[in-house]
Amino acid sequence: MKMINSIEKDKTPIGINDLNFLLFGHAAFQYLYAGCELGVFQLLSKQPNLSKSEIGILLKLEPYPIKCLLFGLTALKLIIKTEDTYQNSSIIQKLFADKIWQEFYDIVLFEARIVYVGQVDFVESLRQNKNIGLRQFSGKGTDFYHRLAENPEIEKIFYTYMSSWSRLTNPLLLEKVDFSKFNKIIDVSGGDATNTIAIANKYPHLQISLLEIPNSCPIAQKKIDEHGLTDRIEVHGCDIFVDGFPQKQECFLFIHVLVIWTLEENTLLLRRAYEALKPGGSVIIFNSISSDSEDGPVMSALDSAYFVSLPATGGMIYTWKDHEQCLREAGFTQIERIKCNFWTPHGIIIATK
Ligand SMILES: C[S@@+](CC[C@H](N)C(=O)[O-])C[C@H]1O[C@@H](n2cnc3c(N)ncnc32)[C@H](O)[C@@H]1O
Repeated sequence: MKMINSIEKDKTPIGINDLNFLLFGHAAFQYLYAGCELGVFQLLSKQPNLSKSEIGILLKLEPYPIKCLLFGLTALKLIIKTEDTYQNSSIIQKLFADKIWQEFYDIVLFEARIVYVGQVDFVESLRQNKNIGLRQFSGKGTDFYHRLAENPEIEKIFYTYMSSWSRLTNPLLLEKVDFSKFNKIIDVSGGDATNTIAIANKYPHLQISLLEIPNSCPIAQKKIDEHGLTDRIEVHGCDIFVDGFPQKQECFLFIHVLVIWTLEENTLLLRRAYEALKPGGSVIIFNSISSDSEDGPVMSALDSAYFVSLPATGGMIYTWKDHEQCLREAGFTQIERIKCNFWTPHGIIIATK
């Protein structure tokens, strides 16, 4: 993170230490993942100032692996060594204090078990202009999402992550967008319904339709039922590229989806939404966005490698201008940018018919 921030703010060229960090960046991530998966951070959040042998015994790790793991975590400043005892770094401890440890952990698990695996084929994906990393996941589905049901463990990791990512970030949307003027909204590719539920809870008058691929609908339906929102949120199994959009609508939401496909496909979806909106209706886009100068944020660039390698062909974290161009080609003329000042590069675009 220090590395990311230093690249972000400092316009001077990177030095040899930064280059070394990149050279071994994959190993840095593996230490982070191991610290999460083997329970080092969770243990130190409850019992700080433990010795190496105490941590080894409590985590059931032999002396050699605990020596190596604690060495790496200390060198990366994820944990702090004082004399012979260890504690979490302040940023790790803050995740526990802010009660977002679980969300962070879910993101790490997604990066380790899905992103990391698919990105093995990043170079080949660039070479062939195709999401070659899909070959790392078995199944007949033509994209990653259509393979999830064929890989139940991966499906669970994916939707647990997606829900955590959405829970972390949808407060930005709820803070910046006033949904009170709508009676009904359509959540296009709404995933497990985490966002839909958050919106429905804040606006008790709203009815919401969630569109999803048929295999993922039961995941959304289960969560909606558990939240007692069955009468206000309906789930429609469909393929948004094939099936018609519901007509005469007031609002279409695209949350974390216009990063998956090509700009041409995004334009097609936005045109369908434009045609299905009543005059005065809105499309709301909410996802990570890159700067128009195509030089950052670094997190947008790093996240793009996943979209190039795995989910479908042609996605990335697009710029504000890219999204606005798609909206104009879809028919919109009234387009508003809303920046979110957050540690993720999220932004909101509202287009009105
Ligand atoms: C990155 S997830 C975003 C989910 C949700 N919007 C969120 O923010 O939590 C993308 C979603 O798009 C859905 N999806 C992919 N292709 C689709 C298609 N052709 N039709 C409908 N939904 C699709 C996937 O099943 C997945 O749940």
